[in-house]
Amino acid sequence: MQLRPLGSSGLLVSPICLGTMTFGTPVGEPDAIHLIHAAIDLGINFIDTANVYEGYARYLGSPGGVAEEIVGKALRDRRDRVILATKVAAPVGPGPQDRGLSAVHILSELERSLKRLQTETIDLYIIHWPDKHVPLEVTLRAIDTALHQGKIRYFGVSNHAASQLCEMLWLADRNQLPPVVSSQIPFSLLRRELQNDLPFCQQHGIGVTPYQSLQGGLLTGKYRRGQPPTVGSRAAEKPDWVWKQDDALFDRLEAVAGLAAEASVPMAQYSLAWTLAQPAMSSLIVGVKSLEQIQDAISAADIVIPPEHLPRLDTICPPPWRQPDPIRGS
Ligand SMILES: NC(=O)c1ccc[n+]([C@@H]2O[C@H](COP(=O)([O-])OP(=O)(O)OC[C@H]3O[C@@H](n4cnc5c(N)ncnc54)[C@H](OP(=O)(O)O)[C@@H]3O)[C@@H](O)[C@H]2O)c1
Repeated sequence: MQLRPLGSSGLLVSPICLGTMTFGTPVGEPDAIHLIHAAIDLGINFIDTANVYEGYARYLGSPGGVAEEIVGKALRDRRDRVILATKVAAPVGPGPQDRGLSAVHILSELERSLKRLQTETIDLYIIHWPDKHVPLEVTLRAIDTALHQGKIRYFGVSNHAASQLCEMLWLADRNQLPPVVSSQIPFSLLRRELQNDLPFCQQHGIGVTPYQSLQGGLLTGKYRRGQPPTVGSRAAEKPDWVWKQDDALFDRLEAVAGLAAEASVPMAQYSLAWTLAQPAMSSLIVGVKSLEQIQDAISAADIVIPPEHLPRLDTICPPPWRQPDPIRGS
């Protein structure tokens, strides 16, 4: 796999990043460690986790930590082979300081993450989502403290729109605070709401690392109209983590499957390849349950969607409306 720059950070990451949200359940510790080792051996050098990940056991306010502990054990003897990302913001308890982006929460959660990950430094520390109760400058100063302490190397955000990234860059520039280098957004053929933000990221050195580019497995072709989900699939095991499968959704899935078949590419690889070809893409965060799924994701990095498919895909899965820009001529 050809490595790609992670925004303006200077880091080079594999175009596929290993997601760990399902580590704990359904992917138990031994299997998860095996998957991490296999992924690294296959060339993946980027792992995404979060302080709250604990697989299907997660509920709002549960303490989390399970996935980080597994990742920490797996990387004990190979930490230097990966760019390690984790996140903060989601609630990890019932108390007022158990969530969000205050300096108290960020700096205490960071200590817990470092301990569980068995590392002295987190390469990419990610704000999981915005916190409207905390001034952005307070959050950026906490991140700056962590950087100066050497506990993190770079910071990124998740679930932020371009307007929020813009404010963050402006505030950082004005106050000599660190710039955001990556943006983790939900983005797939089926979920293109933030597509118009991609040129902004490209222009400002923010590497995009989308999540759920397979839309939880829907874009693999594994679910069929009128048939119950196969045993062992996410829709069978954890239905509330997969979109409701109605006729309108199957119309789109079947049309994408048809184009993938025309290109003689498995649908999962075809869907990932489309996402990878969008502007500003650094690495796709993919969830996997088996070695075959990792291999499928990696193969996508070599696939080029036939150009004549692009307008057809836009008809099946329309892009968001974009205001014409007479000044830039687009
Ligand atoms: N920042 C955020 O707010 C946020 C939110 C969600 C996720 N994430 C990150 O993104 C990662 C990926 O999210 P995700 O797992 O929900 O989405 P995903 O990558 O779209 O879906 C992954 C699931 O699809 C199925 N799958 C994968 N490859 C397949 C293949 N080749 N053939 C058939 N099925 C396949 C597997 O489920 P089954 O085999 O069980 O069906 C797998 O667990 C997470 O691990 C996490 O790191 C971040």
